[in-house]
Amino acid sequence: MTTDQADPRTAPSPLPRWRADLRLGTRIVAMRAGGLALALRGDPVARLMHRPWRLDPYPTYARLRADAAAGGGLARSRTGIRAVATHEACTAVLRDRRFGVRLADGRMPFDPRDTERSGEHADRGAGASETDDASTGGDPTDPEAALLEPIDLSLLGLDAPDHTRLRRLAQPTFAPRRLEQYRETARAVTGRLLDAAPTDAPFDLVAALAAPLPISVISELLAIPDVDTPRFAAWGRVVGAALDGVRSVRHAHALSRATADLRALFADLVERRRADPGEDVISQLVHALDEETLTLDELVSLAQLLLIAGFETTTNLVGNAVRALHASGTWDDLVADAGLAAGAIEETLRFDPPVQLTARFAHEDVALGERTVRRDTGVLVLLASAGRDPAVHPDPDRFDPRREQTVAHLAFSGGAHYCLGAALARMEGEVALEMLAQRLPRLRPAGRFVPRVATVLRGPRRFGVRAD
Ligand code: HEM
Repeated sequence: MTTDQADPRTAPSPLPRWRADLRLGTRIVAMRAGGLALALRGDPVARLMHRPWRLDPYPTYARLRADAAAGGGLARSRTGIRAVATHEACTAVLRDRRFGVRLADGRMPFDPRDTERSGEHADRGAGASETDDASTGGDPTDPEAALLEPIDLSLLGLDAPDHTRLRRLAQPTFAPRRLEQYRETARAVTGRLLDAAPTDAPFDLVAALAAPLPISVISELLAIPDVDTPRFAAWGRVVGAALDGVRSVRHAHALSRATADLRALFADLVERRRADPGEDVISQLVHALDEETLTLDELVSLAQLLLIAGFETTTNLVGNAVRALHASGTWDDLVADAGLAAGAIEETLRFDPPVQLTARFAHEDVALGERTVRRDTGVLVLLASAGRDPAVHPDPDRFDPRREQTVAHLAFSGGAHYCLGAALARMEGEVALEMLAQRLPRLRPAGRFVPRVATVLRGPRRFGVRAD
């Protein structure tokens, strides 16, 4: 019986809020405890999700590449999750049209309302769906279901044909001529931020530059007036962390509030642009809205994706680059020749990328090496592991800003979902490194590098430095 057919006289009544919180909390704790137990027993996929192994996932990736080689290209784990870890296998999955980001029938893979009905765990991971019950829907009045509502990731959560239509509408925002305009903004903003950075005391590189720089650029791209940087940074942290799944009841509530706030902000912006259109991306999309090639929900989700994708990742890029330059002893090379900035950014994307992994779901049975990925089964695509694959990157654990990458890294993914903001991110990273090296040549780590609590996104939450 589907939800639509449920008899209201026998259907369970919605849970009160406190009980929903308790149930959700219990589920999260049970799920994390199960994963931790597997990690302690040495399961490499479980280790990617848990401390202390998550802090340095690269040895685990090496093991997964070895497991995958022994297992015909596909690594398996007791979590039920399958993974591809070599450059070749990651590229093959990303480019293969038999894989998508949704299930074969178009349902969302992690819809907890499905899980609720089929009595499974909220976190099935990317691999346990072979036996999924195909039920859909859920009770929107149930506070637990509302808290677990999957985040609408716009393009990232869509397959063709909706993906193709929406991507076409978003593409003009990233045209090369616009990039030059954003470069001017990036330079001016970086200059202002560095003017304000202390020259005689330690400071946090994330708060001083790595976070506000991309927030300013993306705000210009979306023409968001009077941007409230700390508020945006907080939204980004909450939504970015959710890429790993909901961590706690508190996180679930924060996420629910952040997505509601973001939706309200963009719904309001759409109305203002409709009344007074400009040159910005929202005004262009409002046009598509009026021509009915886009719905209001799609527009709001796309704007939200641009905002989140546009700064969380770039913040990590700047932080990881400065850290790697110092750890490898190449910071002084950059100071001597700021022209190395582009190479340093490219090498950071290979060596320690801001987005470590993504996932795809098979739309039919697909043979990968000697193994078969069954229809509707998920595969983790370990983008960061591909960057350390010795088959394509010689001496892969060495950071070298002068490295010639003959095979492109996968930090921006590949295939249909290749990052729309890749050129923008590279430009912002280059401007940040160039100007840091010129303006603060004595910049060095001082104090703590506090990593994010995350598996998908990798970078500093705080990065103590000084420049005197
Ligand atoms: C260093 C910075 C960045 C990194 C590492 C990065 C990485 C990625 C990756 C890995 C994906 C694809 C995920 C998948 O295949 O499932 C992606 C998609 C996307 N990125 Fe980025 N990104 C960065 C910066 C940006 C910026 C600055 C923007 C925009 C302002 C942006 C906008 C997007 C959009 C819209 C998509 C969705 C594309 C699609 O699904 O068709 N990204 N990004």
